[in-house]
Amino acid sequence: MYVVIEGIDGSGKDRQAKLLIERLIAEGRHVVASQEPNEATPIGQLLRKLLKNGNYPDAMLPLFLADRAASEPARAQAQAEGADIVQTRSFLSTLVYQGLRYSDGLLVVMHRELLKVWPDVIVVLDVPLKVAADRRRERNSEAEVYELGEWQQRVAKRYATFVALKQVLHTPIVAVDGTGTPEEVHQRVWEATTRGRA
Ligand code: TYD
Repeated sequence: MYVVIEGIDGSGKDRQAKLLIERLIAEGRHVVASQEPNEATPIGQLLRKLLKNGNYPDAMLPLFLADRAASEPARAQAQAEGADIVQTRSFLSTLVYQGLRYSDGLLVVMHRELLKVWPDVIVVLDVPLKVAADRRRERNSEAEVYELGEWQQRVAKRYATFVALKQVLHTPIVAVDGTGTPEEVHQRVWEATTRGRA
């Protein structure tokens, strides 16, 4: 099972990925964690820098694609070995964020060429903008380029559009209420991903 967790900045993706991984491992599954941008690679590290300083905005799309392409072999291998993959962010983030600037058609076609391994389900954590903004403040790290208020509003709208479509690139997309305690949200994520598995 290849599960992706998505949502606006501060929606709780990392925490939910961790809880899901722990539960799958407790069930005896072999789990591979994956994240985009992948900071284990030089491309991911460069992306993280540019997200902080806002330099080279025109390089962001190709770098996100390169980062994703570089992680594909590891995912393909994990899948071939029968492992579960739990990942934060995916091509849906590119459709949502870079889609504010480039056409959806272009981004869909590029991913169809680029990707070999498709998620079984993408879970979008749905939290009000204010809750996510408060969580980002608590995290107390320097705001990245897309984390500013007006961007987040547009990003939230884009996520809602893809949730309404129910699937993109043959990948089912489900929204999960991301409010409440991490354990409450986890239970909803668990149910949504189990449904996807059935
Ligand atoms: P991430 O580290 O997941 O942010 P957070 O933990 O704050 O949710 O992702 C960093 C930023 O990169 C985030 O603002 C979304 C953006 N992003 C894109 O614009 N396109 C992409 O394809 C990906 C993977 C991320």
